[in-house]
Amino acid sequence: MAAQFRSTLPGIPIIRGTGDDLPLADACVDLVTYAQAWHWTDPARSVPEALRVLRPGGALALWWNTDALDVPWIAEAAARTERHFGIDVAAEKRNVNARAADPTGGLDFTRRTVRWSRRVPVDTHLANIGSHSVFLIDDEEHTAAFLAEEREHLLKAFPDGIVEEVYEVVLFLAKTPARRTPA
Ligand SMILES: C[S@@+](CC[C@H](N)C(=O)[O-])C[C@H]1O[C@@H](n2cnc3c(N)ncnc32)[C@H](O)[C@@H]1O
Repeated sequence: MAAQFRSTLPGIPIIRGTGDDLPLADACVDLVTYAQAWHWTDPARSVPEALRVLRPGGALALWWNTDALDVPWIAEAAARTERHFGIDVAAEKRNVNARAADPTGGLDFTRRTVRWSRRVPVDTHLANIGSHSVFLIDDEEHTAAFLAEEREHLLKAFPDGIVEEVYEVVLFLAKTPARRTPA
């Protein structure tokens, strides 16, 4: 992931660390974002860390791509995933709010949903879904069989081999209080 980031944005420094213990000084940045990684942190530690490194008036942004389940082929693929892994994709989508829970009470999140789509070759789509944790912890043969079958379903929906993925990004933004100027 770091190599990919560096090839796209070579001028931006990368520091290795964890969201629960940021290797950054107090009040040194205007924006902290975890994009789709926040749910791996412990909010009892990561919220105070985000607040510590943000300058007054800075913002913490979290977001997650969720499947647009109103698109027929996506609903059908989600139903197949549910059957295969015994998970409830729609319930996970409904629960995305819980991911931005703040046990410290120090953050007041504004929520927005942004819909977007991209057209990618079928193998890019399969590599993407195959990287999700539910696939990674599954038996390798079981996953490979599912992805091979999924490929056949997708090629029926997209005979030219280009899949139109549609997402709803659920975005959460919280700002820290601006510094008060002395009277
Ligand atoms: C679903 S990927 C998201 C990648 C990218 N941020 C994005 O939004 O596309 C989740 C990422 O969370 C990272 N991660 C896991 N535990 C973490 C932690 N405690 N602090 C920060 N990142 C963590 C993993 O290394 C993984 O790259």
